[in-house]
Amino acid sequence: MNYIGSKLSLLEFLEESISKVVGKNCNTFCDLFAGTGIVGRYFKKKGYKIIANDIQYYSYILNRHYIGNHKELKFLNLLKVIPGLIKIKEKDRKLFVCNYLSCINGIKGFIYNNYCVGGTKNNIIERQYFSDENGMRCDAIRQKIEEWKDKKFISGDEYYFLITSLIESIDKYANTASVYGAFLKKLKKTAQKRLLLKPAELIVNDQEHQVFNEDINSVVGKIEGDILYLDPPYNQRQYATNYHILETIARYDNPIIHGKTGLRDYQIQKSLYCSRTQVKKTFRDLILKAKAKYIFLSYNNEGLMSFNDIKEIMSLRGKYGNFTKEYSRFKADKSKNRKFIANKTVEYLHYVICN
Ligand SMILES: C[S@@+](CC[C@H](N)C(=O)[O-])C[C@H]1O[C@@H](n2cnc3c(N)ncnc32)[C@H](O)[C@@H]1O
Repeated sequence: MNYIGSKLSLLEFLEESISKVVGKNCNTFCDLFAGTGIVGRYFKKKGYKIIANDIQYYSYILNRHYIGNHKELKFLNLLKVIPGLIKIKEKDRKLFVCNYLSCINGIKGFIYNNYCVGGTKNNIIERQYFSDENGMRCDAIRQKIEEWKDKKFISGDEYYFLITSLIESIDKYANTASVYGAFLKKLKKTAQKRLLLKPAELIVNDQEHQVFNEDINSVVGKIEGDILYLDPPYNQRQYATNYHILETIARYDNPIIHGKTGLRDYQIQKSLYCSRTQVKKTFRDLILKAKAKYIFLSYNNEGLMSFNDIKEIMSLRGKYGNFTKEYSRFKADKSKNRKFIANKTVEYLHYVICN
């Protein structure tokens, strides 16, 4: 997923830098602003036990699958529901089930009724986040997954796999420039294509992992790990508003929505890391509470906290250091109206070896 602040292109830099600092006896990697889970996934593949967390529920779902799921999904209770599934090899069933869901008839549900032209054309505000057909397909797939869960045709692990596959897939057909803070007037080419449910990657390994959906400052007191990796928001843009439709697809809870973009209420998900006046105090509290041997923080030179703020706070816990890398900015930041228009930013990886 094209996610604000994604570390996809920085994974090797992170691993190389982290390996220069940490000792060999580190087994647990905590990714507590996990977002898409791409960092946790990378370290899961290296054999670590991962503890993941994020305040957004769609992110919890992604991490519950990518991190939490670590055994093959066999869909045993669906064998009697989906014709032909019984003949499919266990490892190929994920694709078969996704193909089945890709073919079911669309339904006029919450997504169609609120985020597609067909469903909103008689309202004061017309929205076009998805084509009518894809909105209806998304509703049908999401409702079918819920129905299967309620009827116990799928396990919890299978449920999270399927919703992850839907979130990742539908995002590719969204009629947006990048995030869900606005939609485009005309349906762009990718949004016109037919939604196909692509199975999300399953990373099989031997470790049990943990996944939380809480504010980091409350979860940090409950967990302990060798490496604590922190990748907070850098600026005032709340993830809750930029990804509100993914949140609604993940929860599928018929929320009250308002405004041009059909925003759901997000008061309890407002991040203090996006607040200029709160961020330092909140970060200090987090660093002081963390139970880890090493703490790493990704942050760039345009963030709300200054380099010196971070150095001062992290030094409270032990020996401080940092690595740097030049980084091409996220596409959505290209607008000329933004304060920073340079194409490169400096990405820092701050660390502290805790006393
Ligand atoms: C920079 S993104 C992380 C990106 C992630 N490393 C990736 O590569 O996909 C920051 C994440 O922090 C989450 N977040 C913001 N405030 C939070 C808080 N107080 N507690 C937990 N998660 C929070 C956001 O929902 C967002 O997913």
